[in-house]
Amino acid sequence: MTFPATRMRRMRRTSALRDLVREHRLHPRDMVLPLFVQHGEDTTTPIDALPGHGRITIDRATDIAAEAQELGIGGVLLFGIPATKDEIGSEAMDDEGIVQLAIRAIKSRCEDLTVITDVCMCQYTSHGHCGVIRDGEVLNDVTLEILADIAVSHARAGADVVAPSDMMDGRIGALRSALDAEHHESTAILSYSAKYASAFYGPFRDAAGSTPQFGDRRAYQMDSANVLEAIRECALDVAEGADMLMVKPALAYLDVVHRIKEEFKLPLACYHVSGEYAMVKAAAERGWIDERAVMMETLTSMKRAGADAIITYAALEAAHWLREEH
Ligand code: PBG
Repeated sequence: MTFPATRMRRMRRTSALRDLVREHRLHPRDMVLPLFVQHGEDTTTPIDALPGHGRITIDRATDIAAEAQELGIGGVLLFGIPATKDEIGSEAMDDEGIVQLAIRAIKSRCEDLTVITDVCMCQYTSHGHCGVIRDGEVLNDVTLEILADIAVSHARAGADVVAPSDMMDGRIGALRSALDAEHHESTAILSYSAKYASAFYGPFRDAAGSTPQFGDRRAYQMDSANVLEAIRECALDVAEGADMLMVKPALAYLDVVHRIKEEFKLPLACYHVSGEYAMVKAAAERGWIDERAVMMETLTSMKRAGADAIITYAALEAAHWLREEH
């Protein structure tokens, strides 16, 4: 049946009809809010390239987490700004480290809010790389032991999910066995499975103070031109025990999100990264685009591509907008 019997516009005629046949819907539950936590009290240090976000002290992070919980947001993802950095990122695995303290504070106020932690060394190392350095190279297997210690320490503090973002080989297996050995068999692993070496991380590195002091991350993060490699990365993570996969960045990699969802049919997150968020903010600030409409269209595209969860700096505002729609 074709035109004139078939008219696609019939179901687009009213807002109510469009609502009725909408295929994908964004919900606050789908979104995870990243937070940058620093030592101190009652302080927010603004991050220029991430409007609406700052490095926040634990008391403020706890307030924001409570707001996120009240809005029905799916969870928070914690990044720590340590007091001191060293060669091996010691504060990352310290039970009294910034993230560990933040997990306990947030969990004691928001028991039901899912707390996810980034497991990586780059914010904590003096050289800014995601692993242990020897002769200018990031060592894989030595790094695994440190990552495992970091994850166990997060689990001990009460994290629901640990999310390794380092891209070392074998990290999911290393984390799983370390967690299980310490009786944290219920702590889930969200693997940053397909994490690309991306220029879209720029604002984050300013925020987290994690810019590599030499070289770049291309020797461990993925090449942006590859998709079969992303499938292999995910297959390995699944075999090693990942509970959830991730594609990062999101918007520039929606084809990868789609492929991974089709291939694995597992819970999938995508990370709407700092540069992707900052672009919308910057254009909106100049009055060049409608911020709310572009942000919601962007986030919806990630659901449509196949993501179950979206990690986004826009989670709070999007949740407020969704609430207004109802
Ligand atoms: C740390 C890490 C990065 C991001 C998340 N975890 C930066 C990087 O790999 O350089 C980027 C997040 C963003 O840009 O929003 N390994």
